[in-house]
Amino acid sequence: TGKGLKDHYQDYFPIGVAVTPRHLQDSATRIFLLQHFNSLTAENAMKMEPIHPATDRYDWRGADAIVHFATENGLKVRGHTLCWHNQAPKWMFYDAAGKLVSKDTLLNRLRTHIHDVVGRYKGRIYAWDVVNEAVSDRHSEFLRNSLWYQICGEDFIAQAFRYAHEADPKAILFYNDYNTENPVKRDKVYRLLKKLREENVPVHAVGLQGHWSISDPSRALLVSAIEKYASLGIKIQITELDVSVFTNDKMPEKPDFTAEQKESQEHQYDMLFDTFRKYRDIITGVTFWNVSDRSSWLDNFPVKGRKNYPLLFDEKLQPKKAYWRVTDF
Ligand code: XIL
Repeated sequence: TGKGLKDHYQDYFPIGVAVTPRHLQDSATRIFLLQHFNSLTAENAMKMEPIHPATDRYDWRGADAIVHFATENGLKVRGHTLCWHNQAPKWMFYDAAGKLVSKDTLLNRLRTHIHDVVGRYKGRIYAWDVVNEAVSDRHSEFLRNSLWYQICGEDFIAQAFRYAHEADPKAILFYNDYNTENPVKRDKVYRLLKKLREENVPVHAVGLQGHWSISDPSRALLVSAIEKYASLGIKIQITELDVSVFTNDKMPEKPDFTAEQKESQEHQYDMLFDTFRKYRDIITGVTFWNVSDRSSWLDNFPVKGRKNYPLLFDEKLQPKKAYWRVTDF
């Protein structure tokens, strides 16, 4: 039938996917996307470096194509991302003499960037990942020691949210991060959000990236993270879902997608979506990071040359068993 993933979840939450502008140039892929998904995220096209490659130059082509396709076809768009330590252009942080800029200069540049990008898509992008991955993974450190942090201290976080809110007061503004179920990191993300909320900073929701694996997280850790963030009175989205078939960062002995891996993946996807459905009042969207096992960012990360199979559709775009598990409820 023509029923897609999004239709099964019609009464729950939108189902999104990260795309590149190239996906939209292929008619078979377009049809596939429209069958299964009702929300799009740009995998890279809206990040600071690709969209704002030089001080006075923007490259809107990729982002425009994605927003245009979504608008024409009635899909939602999540904006990703306005302030991140990765894929940020060098020029942002340095002056003409090659010296790091002052806090004032950097915040001004950030403000201009956010106003220009958010302003351009005002009313067409309903949610923005405003700050991405600012919390540190190190036990001894609260915030990541990025150039943003080195130059501005923690203030860049609140300011980024304020700028985005000025640029589009109706957009839902997210703090987005990974490993958000790990208790140590979970409590740090919670602490950050709590402080921002107490200071009336316009942060409305938290994005759990959801770069998970066949063994992580457990249902208990996922539930505890959801409840902890929800206790702040904010909404949650799963913003970058994939389920790696590997449990460590070493090359596997057998390169294949084995029967055991398949079964564990089906089980994990089943648990994840069962949990998401139980929290439908809090979880307002679930987005996959890439379309199918044909190509995933995990094919080369974190282990170069290692192929992964983290999604619900196989290399031929056919639904995997995991797909039937998450749609059979
Ligand atoms: C990844 C993209 O998928 C890759 O194509 C790119 O080379 C690097 O970034 N967390 C995020 C995403 O917030 O933006 C990242 O996307 C994956 C991890």
